[in-house]
Amino acid sequence: MNQISTKLLHDSPEDLRIASELLRNGELVAIPTETVYGLGADARNETAVRAIFAAKGRPADNPLIVHIADLDMLEQIALEIPEIAIRLAEQFWSGALTMIFKKRPEIPSVTSGGLDTVGVRMPSHPVAREIIRLSGCPIAAPSANRSGLPSPTTAKHVLDDMNGRIAAVVDGGQCEVGVESTVICFDDPETIHILRPGCISLEDLQPFAEKIYIDKAIFEQISPDAKVASPGMKYKHYSPKTKILPVDAPDFESFSDYVKSHAQNGTYCLLFDSDPDIPGIPCMRYGDTGIAQAHDLFLRFRELDEVGARLAYVRMPRQTGADLSVYNRLMRAAGFEVIKL
Ligand code: TXA
Ligand code: MG
Repeated sequence: MNQISTKLLHDSPEDLRIASELLRNGELVAIPTETVYGLGADARNETAVRAIFAAKGRPADNPLIVHIADLDMLEQIALEIPEIAIRLAEQFWSGALTMIFKKRPEIPSVTSGGLDTVGVRMPSHPVAREIIRLSGCPIAAPSANRSGLPSPTTAKHVLDDMNGRIAAVVDGGQCEVGVESTVICFDDPETIHILRPGCISLEDLQPFAEKIYIDKAIFEQISPDAKVASPGMKYKHYSPKTKILPVDAPDFESFSDYVKSHAQNGTYCLLFDSDPDIPGIPCMRYGDTGIAQAHDLFLRFRELDEVGARLAYVRMPRQTGADLSVYNRLMRAAGFEVIKL
């Protein structure tokens, strides 16, 4: 990989113009979205898209999400848009929902990881929207982390992973949501299949479908050679260097007793905001509700690495509503290993 210097851009009109020009010229630019930072390139430009895979170290069969600024762009990318998708777009776009469609030939197969489908999302972050609009390109953008690491929720995190590997990053502040979008596909015109949980939950989507279900890969480890509905399910994900160990405890006391009797040098705890401290053990906190936990989880993962933590015992989030997105990222970071008390 050639060493280049990565420009740090801001949200001024001049900087957004520079970012969109770079994208139009086939360069890689990390952009803020409301979920996490994305590593953007023109989705129609094969060379640029290949450079995304190289910069991230991403397996070539893991497809990218294409980001659009309006519904006209959807028609340039997707074929056979079902009625249910229009209803969902009216309700949830712009926002943290990615829908999978049959792809048009204009989207090269590198972008879709060799699949004949394409994931599409209309982000709500004004900076992302404006950059897409100014560039006039549908923007392929996976999360802007090195493959396997936690998704970046600040421009600094992007630079920590990508400095010297991409043309620019646009600093749009801390991401509001903090975990990646909900990804869905349609098994038939009335069935929603959730491939990745996000802040838009099963409960939010339910009124729009006759049938809705969550893929089983959300709850259990899938072997690397299994046939999966979404290639991203197979790969190790979201892991900091710190070993992450969720503890499924009936209450705080049993969690705290377990940690006190097992802690060694370099052991940390990741607690809910409302938990008391555990004397003698360094603790970080990640909110009490799903929305707050989603906002903080990847931040804490990166902080654990910064302080050099060796192991973090984590309080287990719930598995309903938006909380399921936090549960899923945590389980993936832990390789689905849990301590059950
Ligand atoms: O919030 C988000 O979705 C962020 C921001 C930048 O938009 N993007 C993101 O992209 O998380 P990425 O590449 O890190 O995750 C995309 C996920 C992967 O698990 C991938 O396998 C799945 O979406 N995916 C993309 N296209 C697909 C397709 N055609 N069929 C099945 N799964 C697909
Ligand atoms: Mg990712």
